[in-house]
Amino acid sequence: MQLPTGFQRLRRLRRTAGIRSMVREHVLNTKDFIYPLFAAHGTGVKEEIASMPGVYHLSIELLKREVEEISELGIESVLLFGVPAHKDEHSSEAYAEQGIVQQAVRAVKDVNPDMTVITDVCLCAYNPDGHCGIVRDGQIVNDDSLVLLAKTAVSHAHAGADIVAPSDMMDGRIAALRAALDQAGFLDIPIMSYSVKYASAFYGPFRDAAHSAPSFGDRKTYQMDPANSREAMRESMADVEEGADFLMVKPAMAYMDIIRQVRDNFDLPLVAYNVSGEYSMLKAAAQNGWIDERQVVLELLTGFKRAGADLIITYHAKEAAQWLRG
Ligand code: PBG
Repeated sequence: MQLPTGFQRLRRLRRTAGIRSMVREHVLNTKDFIYPLFAAHGTGVKEEIASMPGVYHLSIELLKREVEEISELGIESVLLFGVPAHKDEHSSEAYAEQGIVQQAVRAVKDVNPDMTVITDVCLCAYNPDGHCGIVRDGQIVNDDSLVLLAKTAVSHAHAGADIVAPSDMMDGRIAALRAALDQAGFLDIPIMSYSVKYASAFYGPFRDAAHSAPSFGDRKTYQMDPANSREAMRESMADVEEGADFLMVKPAMAYMDIIRQVRDNFDLPLVAYNVSGEYSMLKAAAQNGWIDERQVVLELLTGFKRAGADLIITYHAKEAAQWLRG
């Protein structure tokens, strides 16, 4: 047969590993990863979260050991969550000086002062209702919640947090946190807003981990409807206007289009949160021998960067750092 001529030979740039490397557009770096850690009271606690193999509740001294290990691997930032000793209607451990997150912040800084410490600012793990704001007559009350959230952020800053990350999705929280931080003298502490956070079923395993499942109802009156993308731009715009320093899209895997849209519309550093359910699915498939975990995870993390994320919060950070090291 007479072959056509003049078609493009795209395979030329794929011929050798060296050429493929030259033309690679996005490269994963260990410094892109933010590693979530769960701090718990007690000593000698290293309790694996059943639905998240490889993720643990760690008491302070074991958390310190973990920070030594990940520092050695080149991980430069952590996101701290706490499992409080008790829950009450004022979420008082969220902003207690000896609260579990406050202790964890000091512990991380003790081991590695250069580690960038980000704290999750929310109330859901600290009150018996398991909601991200204050509950009154079965409703999640917006404005009164802001007071406690701001107090929590300030207490994290006092403990030494480098960045605070509100995940509650109350309206006005960025403005409230900014004002409170500034008044307390923390003018230079940035806010990493969970700006675009969907009401997602992919948070299931995390709620086991943080003991933070809502005791009634769901989070749909404050977290976003997964069907919406224009609203993601409104949420981002509001947070930028209120003073956010970073934007975030969460979850990440099912929302790559949103990551791209936020990237194209805003110039702030953008974080993708590769959430618990996404991690657990891959772990389960890998444990069954159905996927090659290393290759699949690196492909996925690269996908987040290609979609436009600058930073990735992922439970796979430690393993990915090991894989990247080769
Ligand atoms: C707290 C919070 C949640 C996550 C991060 N911060 C849970 C939720 O909103 O229900 C989810 C993280 C994950 O699933 O990995 N509000």
